[in-house]
Amino acid sequence: MSGLDSRGRPNGAHPIQINPEQLLDDGYVILRNVVPPERLNELRASFETLVDRQQANWARDRDDPGCFAYVAKQPRLAFQTVIDAATANTVEFCLHENTLGVSRQALGTRDVGLKQMILLCNPETPYGPDLWHRDVSHGPTNNAPLAGLQADMLSNGPGSVQWNIPLYDDDVLWVVPGSHRRLNTPRENQELLNDPRAKLSNCTQVSLKAGDGVMYINTILHWPSNYSTRLRRIIHLRYTSFGGQLFPYGSRFLWEPDFVRHLSPEGQAVFHRFLELAQLEDDRIEAFYRALLDQDPEAFRQALALLHPGDTGRLVCVVLLSKLARRMGALKRPEVANLPERERASAVGEQTFSIRNLESLARRFTGSETKLLGQRFAPLDARLQLETEHFVPSLASKPTRYAQEHMPDRFDLDDFIASWSNAA
Ligand SMILES: [Fe+2]
Repeated sequence: MSGLDSRGRPNGAHPIQINPEQLLDDGYVILRNVVPPERLNELRASFETLVDRQQANWARDRDDPGCFAYVAKQPRLAFQTVIDAATANTVEFCLHENTLGVSRQALGTRDVGLKQMILLCNPETPYGPDLWHRDVSHGPTNNAPLAGLQADMLSNGPGSVQWNIPLYDDDVLWVVPGSHRRLNTPRENQELLNDPRAKLSNCTQVSLKAGDGVMYINTILHWPSNYSTRLRRIIHLRYTSFGGQLFPYGSRFLWEPDFVRHLSPEGQAVFHRFLELAQLEDDRIEAFYRALLDQDPEAFRQALALLHPGDTGRLVCVVLLSKLARRMGALKRPEVANLPERERASAVGEQTFSIRNLESLARRFTGSETKLLGQRFAPLDARLQLETEHFVPSLASKPTRYAQEHMPDRFDLDDFIASWSNAA
């Protein structure tokens, strides 16, 4: 069933080789026959079984946890939640040398985990063009400002890659090549303000045949140009690095491991390794927060260097961990902690099947500790807010005070450490 050898490689196949420089330069690479042609029909059939299964769940419950949100314009299946042994080839495909293996090449390390696997589908009624966007948002609980994320990636390499692999020919996606390396230009902003759902003057269409794939860095400016009723089945994956020079943004797994029992022994072993990597990262995150709680600059610097080995960009890692601490703190509030799981997840901006992942980290700390972490991060959080609300097309859905584009001015790692170690 799996077709994997003992090292997770497909039996008898010639792996795809990529040029990581091209990914860094353009922000995306198109790869042909990511799904080996002889496997296309088998995967189409299995995914269709899963679509039917999920449709039945949605018919009963639009908030069924098999989907992180039933989105009428683009139904999305968290397909691992509806597999069985007969359809486990869908998940096993995410461990293939052409997907996981190529992602390892792109990220420059074998220590790569699968963060997310979903199937994007066509809507039942025509929706038309969606908004141009980058897959990052910059609010009180999310991400560092875009230029910070980009500088970190340019200094230390990408921390994650995202994939679209259509099971039927697909040309819905357009991108602005190279935009993952920079902020929007004034011209792009003007065009986006004029019409955020229209073709930009410098964009390129991503035309894929069934089984091809596009691997991209998801800060790239991109556009779902037309959600029509044409049959659309996109395997949408995100892999995250645990062995690189930076701390990847949005790195926590968006799946619960219950489904792993349906996989082959080889597939199970790969997922167990993913969980081990995530556990090790959580140990490091805990050490980082403990150093901050203890107001111990030396332990703090050591913990930070393990999470973000690259010298440049460490403040970005601190910002990301300040956001994570804020989400943990929200979970500890009694009015949230006592809610049923689904409501708890939505109260803190998590997805139903990733809330337990955040809770397992949060359990390492008491409520007073997460409150104290909030105080330690407060001076940084203040520096991440502007005096007035602002709006940047493609980055935010509504105006916010949180800086979308730039890291704080005249505030570096030493300033952050001084902001809490002096208070000792
Ligand atoms: Fe997107």
